[in-house]
Amino acid sequence: MVMDRIFSGIQPTGTPHLGNYLGAIQNWVNLQEKYNSVLYSIMDLHSLTMPKESAVLRQNILDTTAAILACGIDPRKCFLFRQSLMKCTGQNNDGNVGLLTYPVLQAADILLYKSTHVPVGEDQVLHLELAQDIAQHFNKKYGEFFPVPKAILSTTKKIKSLRDPAVKMSKSDPQKLATVNIVDSPEEIVLKFRKAVTDFTSEVTYDPSSRPGVSNLVSIHAAVTGLSIEEVLHQAIGLDTARYKMVVAESVIQKFTPIRNEIKKLQEDKTYLIKVLEAGAEKAKELATPIYQEIRRLVGF
Ligand code: ADP
Ligand code: NA
Repeated sequence: MVMDRIFSGIQPTGTPHLGNYLGAIQNWVNLQEKYNSVLYSIMDLHSLTMPKESAVLRQNILDTTAAILACGIDPRKCFLFRQSLMKCTGQNNDGNVGLLTYPVLQAADILLYKSTHVPVGEDQVLHLELAQDIAQHFNKKYGEFFPVPKAILSTTKKIKSLRDPAVKMSKSDPQKLATVNIVDSPEEIVLKFRKAVTDFTSEVTYDPSSRPGVSNLVSIHAAVTGLSIEEVLHQAIGLDTARYKMVVAESVIQKFTPIRNEIKKLQEDKTYLIKVLEAGAEKAKELATPIYQEIRRLVGF
């Protein structure tokens, strides 16, 4: 019997945005409750997409750690660690790692812990297929060894850019006011929702294909309150879209104010953040070492 093991990674890009929270982090918080063996890796070896300056990277790692802890990731329920602290694993830390691409590194990480499930957004299913292919190839050649990791697809609708609902909300969107960061102040959140693109109909309805802007607001409102689309539409009866934007902004402020305060508190305690990551790495290493030794034995080096 193979024990279920969840693996997922996050890139240390600092504090997450609303899409990251609703599409990924919230799901991670639920998974750590449901499964006994859960690993979350801060993927700081994907050097091609990482800042070149080590001081910036270090700060981003700590900010990312503070943010996901504040969102409810609990180091007693999962192993939270920095990928680059896993030195035993044979992954090269001396700079050659840049030769490997993101999906290859991700596949190696997934397999190193014999992960059985990987939470992913739709946009990452292809990445996971590489890990599945490698597992199957390995098993064919050396005998059943790796579980073929299954995707756990996020059920959250993609959150769209507030300035252009044709594209997803993203940290790399250059448009001002398009992306809501979970540490934005209430004033910034209000401004971004006030400027959100809607259309010329004032009523609030949900129809993503013909009314993508207002439908995105409805999706966000439902996701942050935990209500259904029908329930939030019911609450919006009688409101025009301008008023409704402020209702959604308020729900986002309500949701993220405690998280934002917690992030600030955690950011002041670097020693604690480092301790969490080191303890997580220690435990992840304990899991990986025998697996890695067995891989070496099987392939004969
Ligand atoms: P970004 O697009 O901002 O660079 P990433 O690609 O680093 O975000 O994604 C990190 C995680 O957040 C992934 O699991 C991804 O599916 C999820 N995610 C990113 N943007 C969104 C969004 N707009 N809506 C829902 N989930 C998202
Ligand atoms: Na758990």
